[in-house]
Amino acid sequence: MLSRLSLVALLVGQALAKKHAVPYTATNLIPLQQNAGSDDLFPMADCFGFDLHEATISEMQEAMRLGHLTSTQLVTCYLVRTYQTQDYIDSVLQVNPDVFAIAAERDAERCKGKVRGPLHGIPFTVKDNIASKDNLETTAGSWALLGNIVPRDAHVVKKLREAGAVLFGKAALSEWADMRTNYYSEGYSGRGGQVRSAYNLTVNPGGSSSGSGVGVAANAIAFSLGTETDGSVINPAMRNALVGIKPTVGLTSRAGVIPECEHQDTVGAFARTVKDATLVLDAIYGVDTRDNYTLAQKGKTPKGGYAQYLTDKKALKGATFGIPWNSFWVYADDDQLTQLFGLLDLIKSAGATIINNTEITDYETLVSPDGWNWDYGTTRGFANESEYTYVKVDFYNNIKTYLSEVTNTKVKDLEAIVQFNKDNDGSEGGYPYADGVGHPAFASGQDGFLASLETKGIKTEEYWQALDFCQTGCRNGINDALKHKGKKLNGLLVPPDVAQAPQIAAQAGYPMITVPAGIHAESGMPFGLAIMQTAFGEAELVKWASAIEDLQKTSDTPYKRQLPKWKGYLERNIPVI
Ligand SMILES: *[C@@H]1O[C@H](CO)[C@@H](O)[C@H](O)[C@H]1NC(C)=O
Ligand SMILES: *[C@@H]1O[C@H](CO)[C@@H](O)[C@H](O)[C@H]1NC(C)=O
Ligand SMILES: *[C@@H]1O[C@H](CO)[C@@H](O)[C@H](O)[C@H]1NC(C)=O
Ligand SMILES: *[C@@H]1O[C@H](CO)[C@@H](O)[C@H](O)[C@H]1NC(C)=O
Repeated sequence: MLSRLSLVALLVGQALAKKHAVPYTATNLIPLQQNAGSDDLFPMADCFGFDLHEATISEMQEAMRLGHLTSTQLVTCYLVRTYQTQDYIDSVLQVNPDVFAIAAERDAERCKGKVRGPLHGIPFTVKDNIASKDNLETTAGSWALLGNIVPRDAHVVKKLREAGAVLFGKAALSEWADMRTNYYSEGYSGRGGQVRSAYNLTVNPGGSSSGSGVGVAANAIAFSLGTETDGSVINPAMRNALVGIKPTVGLTSRAGVIPECEHQDTVGAFARTVKDATLVLDAIYGVDTRDNYTLAQKGKTPKGGYAQYLTDKKALKGATFGIPWNSFWVYADDDQLTQLFGLLDLIKSAGATIINNTEITDYETLVSPDGWNWDYGTTRGFANESEYTYVKVDFYNNIKTYLSEVTNTKVKDLEAIVQFNKDNDGSEGGYPYADGVGHPAFASGQDGFLASLETKGIKTEEYWQALDFCQTGCRNGINDALKHKGKKLNGLLVPPDVAQAPQIAAQAGYPMITVPAGIHAESGMPFGLAIMQTAFGEAELVKWASAIEDLQKTSDTPYKRQLPKWKGYLERNIPVI
């Protein structure tokens, strides 16, 4: 956990090192009671004359180019913001002890005229299951991995460092990216505690990349990386009014990422605008010899990256989108539907055509009518047609491979992790929660791990049938829905709050993007509008999401990103639901 003392020490050190600027002090933090009645209970302090609140990466870059701002100052301001918000939202698991040194290097480079690219000097966090070979831990939020030494930076971290971005720290998450437990408090980890959304601190903040979403939404960091196996980027992004890009499996390398399932894991981006998220995607995608799934992108990625597809609302004239109504939309609640219809009307008014009832073929057997359920095949009586059947097996094998390269660790396989959780039941909930046993955040103990353990990683006939059924079924389903009267649609518009939508994309390994679309009246929690596409359809996703975002920003509409209201900020309930 972030220690107040170490933060103060960092700030004081920073203040002493700076001659030209008045540093932040604790007195800049406005006590809450003075803001009673104010719209923003946690106003963000001005950053050395720069308005950092909701600033885009390009605005930060421009201020640095003009010499009005340094990377060191950006780090200082995000540290102050983290100090201001951390006790409430808990977005950061660990601040990088080297963050000021890295920022100073980037500033020195800029002074010499070397600017590596659009992310030069921009601070970011990565989910704590993404390895960094430095003074940070990489633990997936679990005490079991504390002190382990990773062989190297994850490929995505290496690429961001090369792009000049500044690794600020590790974002908190749902422990083990939710693989460990099937009934749990989303956003909780043994090491990180409970992540809470700044929109409503008492409810599910979205996960499993919870700290990534919550931190960016609260302006505690410029951007963040998360990982998704089944909804873990799209869900926390849309629940925090952010743009989330979940790339095609194989576009971003998973080497150095604590795995869940090689067939579905992917590293994605969290940002407040489509352009910011796209700049991040451009920096992290690419072929990596340590993840052979990335070979699939050869010949399928645009020369020069995805930012060239950023556009404005004029592009919507003549665009055609499909609405898989019965597959997903029927499950959205009325409050949300009313607002999403408002946004759809806006998109139509910009000249786009929306075709209703373009359905995912066989959606009835691929996803449950009752919400998120990755063992739906088994629920229907066919374990050989269930996503969970192969995820359980993959996890057993993939975690062993990951840990084989990690040193200074007590746990080298799932057997040891399960034993660790039993031995440390009070902090790690090794047993189901009951009187005096387990942990309230892990209601069903470590049933996910036990289910995986039971498979021993053996790839049975049932495993291969299930993989083929889910993967091929979801791929065909999306591709079919994208076809209309012999023409390919520009994308499928879906409500990402309906978990079945990201679940279909996850099983297919296909990409998805979400943009903010509205706020649930009762909870104050945001939801998004997402676009689905076929494999390596990211260019289309970037194009249409940026067009829709431009439309939102230039229209008098409430159906867009709204700022957090910090509802229930004094509550400390666990579990969150
Ligand atoms: C990656 O390599 C593994 C083992 O070398 C192999 O089983 C798998 O099929 C390969 N996957 C792809 C997508 O090439
Ligand atoms: C799509 O069609 C269904 C009926 O199948 C209807 O209830 C719904 O309102 C339509 N949605 C849109 C966005 O037009
Ligand atoms: C799953 O098993 C059932 C028989 O129990 C069979 O009818 C079905 O075709 C199998 N599914 C797949 C994808 O092989
Ligand atoms: C937070 O969301 C819950 C669930 O919708 C709601 O009951 C509660 O009133 C919200 N909190 C506040 C302070 O509005």
